[in-house]
Amino acid sequence: MLSDKDRIFTNLYGTQDWGLQGALARGSWDGTKAIIAKGRDWIIDQMKASGLRGRGGAGFSTGLKWSFMPKNPGPKPHYLVVNADESEPGTCKDREILRHDPHHLIEGCMLASFAMGAHVAYIYVRGEFVRERERLEAAIAQAYEARLIGKNNIHGYDFDLYVHHGAGAYICGEETALLESLEGKKGQPRLKPPFPANMGLYGCPTTVNNVESIAVAPTILRRGASWFSGLGRPNNTGTKLFCISGHVNRPCTVEEEMGITFREMIDKHCGGIRGGWDNLLAVIPGGASVPLVPAEQIADANMDFDSLRALRSGLGSAAVIVMDKSTDVIKAIARLSAFYKHESCGQCTPCREGTGWMWRVMERLVKGEAEKKEIDLLLQVTTQVEGHTICALGDAAAWPIQGLIRHFRPLIEARIDAYHSRTVQGATLVAAE
Ligand SMILES: Cc1cc2nc3c(=O)[nH]c(=O)nc-3n(C[C@H](O)[C@H](O)[C@H](O)COP(=O)(O)O)c2cc1C
Ligand code: SF4
Repeated sequence: MLSDKDRIFTNLYGTQDWGLQGALARGSWDGTKAIIAKGRDWIIDQMKASGLRGRGGAGFSTGLKWSFMPKNPGPKPHYLVVNADESEPGTCKDREILRHDPHHLIEGCMLASFAMGAHVAYIYVRGEFVRERERLEAAIAQAYEARLIGKNNIHGYDFDLYVHHGAGAYICGEETALLESLEGKKGQPRLKPPFPANMGLYGCPTTVNNVESIAVAPTILRRGASWFSGLGRPNNTGTKLFCISGHVNRPCTVEEEMGITFREMIDKHCGGIRGGWDNLLAVIPGGASVPLVPAEQIADANMDFDSLRALRSGLGSAAVIVMDKSTDVIKAIARLSAFYKHESCGQCTPCREGTGWMWRVMERLVKGEAEKKEIDLLLQVTTQVEGHTICALGDAAAWPIQGLIRHFRPLIEARIDAYHSRTVQGATLVAAE
């Protein structure tokens, strides 16, 4: 359980001043120049040693990612791009940083850019985040005014920060689609390789990081890698913002220690499961893209990357969607299938055709209007989409369905039986008349 002294986001709920004075009082921009004076390698080594894994979903080591940027500046500029697209259903953590603690992010952009030899960074903000974008821009203006960033700033490293407002497409959260969109093109993912560290924004070395990954960096560098790595569990270190929605008594976003058990998190921060723990049906622990986990497996599970992977799910963006026994879980997953069909950019055939195909079958399964053998056919199609596409949206569309079939096959079959017995009964009645 995280103690208050270890919290990074001390204004998560916006109860204090979000602006520069408030941020300074909470410790932001403290000793930034001294951190920069320690040099690029020191910063990257600290980030590696902290064990921080990217908070955007994949959980890749942030320090290692920064180290992939070319060491010596070549003819092309380097860029940091911050992913504030936050479109994964259930995820609502980055917006709290943008509107309540924006200086954590701005200072993080400065330090991360310095560590990677970038003098310019862009923050790509989700289209729907109008107020968040306004708040972020106001905070950036404060940082320029106080000469914390900009040319000839007090830190002695020229650095410019720009905000780009997206238009509201989920796919623009995928890092290469985001770069395309930032360049003014249609947001469609690029084939990798080449990876952004070699050929990213405008063909230049670029690193894309999630808002939370960047916003925690200044505190890690101030308090030390060992402080951060001392929190959480091995290979799953530090603190983490969890966004808990659905059938809990008090949905919330909260900063907790990585690896906290699901039960402790829900009891402590959300007032328990609606109707009590016996009423829990299943949980999607990491945003819409990861497979659900049934109640008995999730209740005492550790909420971290490796523990949830062992349950054949994932921590993803740590958007925890709780479903109690009133949920029609087949319908819930069918709704996600509709989302992925809608958001597919259409570039690759398995995703463009497969998301629509899977959604249509899911809609029939909701009613039971199917044959039982179609369950295996659907499962087979998910495996034909998974891993066969340019970006991970294909996987994201396949995994929730796989999770549903893995854990709720008897329910799907019972619904098919019920549908057929109703139609047989109906036909008998018609015949009797
Ligand atoms: C379809 C799709 C949508 C994504 N949406 C987001 C998003 O909204 N925010 C985000 O940070 N990462 C998102 N990602 C992950 C990014 O591609 C990228 O891995 C991440 O921004 C890297 O940051 P990190 O290393 O700090 O986690 C998405 C990935 C996919 C495939
Ligand atoms: S997987 Fe889907 S969203 Fe991703 S590039 Fe292919 S068609 Fe576009």
